[in-house]
Amino acid sequence: RRTQVGIIGCGPAGLFLAHLLARAGIDSLILEARSRAAVEGTIRAGVLEHGVAALMQELGLAGRMLRQADRHAGITLQWRSQRLHLDLAALTGGKAVTVYAQHEVLKDLVAARLAAAPGSILFEAPARAVEGIEGDHPAILFETAEGGAGRLDCDHIVAADGFHGIGRGAIPASIRQEYGKTYPYGWLGVLVEAPRSWPELIYASQGDGFSLLSTRSPTVQRLYLQCDPADPVEAWDDARIWRELGSRLATDGWTLTQGKIFQKSVIPLRSFVCAPLRHGRLFLAGDAAHIVPPTGAKGLNLAVADVLVLSRALSRAIHRGDASGLDAYSDTALARVWQAQRFSAFMTRMLHRDPGETPFDTRLREAQLEQIALSPAAATALAENYVGLPFPAED
Ligand code: FAD
Ligand code: DHB
Repeated sequence: RRTQVGIIGCGPAGLFLAHLLARAGIDSLILEARSRAAVEGTIRAGVLEHGVAALMQELGLAGRMLRQADRHAGITLQWRSQRLHLDLAALTGGKAVTVYAQHEVLKDLVAARLAAAPGSILFEAPARAVEGIEGDHPAILFETAEGGAGRLDCDHIVAADGFHGIGRGAIPASIRQEYGKTYPYGWLGVLVEAPRSWPELIYASQGDGFSLLSTRSPTVQRLYLQCDPADPVEAWDDARIWRELGSRLATDGWTLTQGKIFQKSVIPLRSFVCAPLRHGRLFLAGDAAHIVPPTGAKGLNLAVADVLVLSRALSRAIHRGDASGLDAYSDTALARVWQAQRFSAFMTRMLHRDPGETPFDTRLREAQLEQIALSPAAATALAENYVGLPFPAED
């Protein structure tokens, strides 16, 4: 088979890229290791930056999102049983975020892509290797759904295959830099059948550490709580979850509405950056190249920002024979990646209780939160990053 841009991975990075390329008149094919049902059923992120929600509208992909998702013009921070409302819109000249689950975004993008170009996503077709990326005729070697050997010849390869994909490893170790750290805590995430307890997201740091109240719909709520990253989910029975959430979110005159917990998972927290994002005709995008701890809600959004820059660069190279955008891709995308790393690490350290934390460390974290309450400049800095820094202008 042959296509202009071969994409490995049908996550947010790969799917947004396929849609952006199609808008620019460029042909692509996505190879995805998992089944369509698995892709559409994996519970992950929930917060879309204002620019990502706007891009979905621009691409004509926002119908269901506009009907079902909520715009959140504020968030709440909580510590020492006090709540602070941050008016994101007032602090950013009217910007807000949209709370719409990642797998709902994926369902919408998969359906639209297959409707526009049947056969343009191959599920259960894991990429095994890339070849020829240093020359002009690269190819992806993959396994077909039937277990046979497939080959996709292309002009450019984009590895949008997530943190555990094969793309990153194709950049020779001699030129690949990796930066990162693993945090000594993880998140237990649960989905609950219950009505909303509070009109906006609450990021809380209280008692044994971090907790986050988010939402999925008027009848399904999403909650997270800091845990030991080595905890099996079985360590968290429902009674323990409600006890911890109750104390970490407690404030006078309010109770958390409980309900049936129907999904539980534990994720590790890490920060990671790989550079450069390009080697010859191979480009990395999204989690394949970088991971942020989820506290700033940046991972999905950063994946979309990468492929926006990359789609413009590919379009310029393919339509105008001008490779300058491809040459600049790694530096341009990494500039935003490091800003998101900074913000995500800042939110993470401010809101989590380190197992080795001293009372001094705790007071410093609380002083950081108090700074946001006291200083409009500090509140604005948080809000600008949370709603999303502007995408680079197209030149
Ligand atoms: P992925 O979504 O990981 O997609 C990669 C795809 O490639 C997968 O479908 C995988 O099956 C496929 N693949 C892997 N290897 C191969 C192969 N060899 N061949 C073919 N296919 C392959 N981000 C936010 O912005 N906001 C949030 O609120 C937020 N909350 C989060 C909460 C949780 C609990 C978690 C776990 C993450 C959260 N994130 C959040 C992060 C976000 O989910 C990720 O950053 C995002 O999924 C990255 O998209 P991606 O397309 O780069 O990678
Ligand atoms: C959600 C996830 C996040 O990482 C976050 O910061 C806020 C909300 C969510 O899944 O709803």
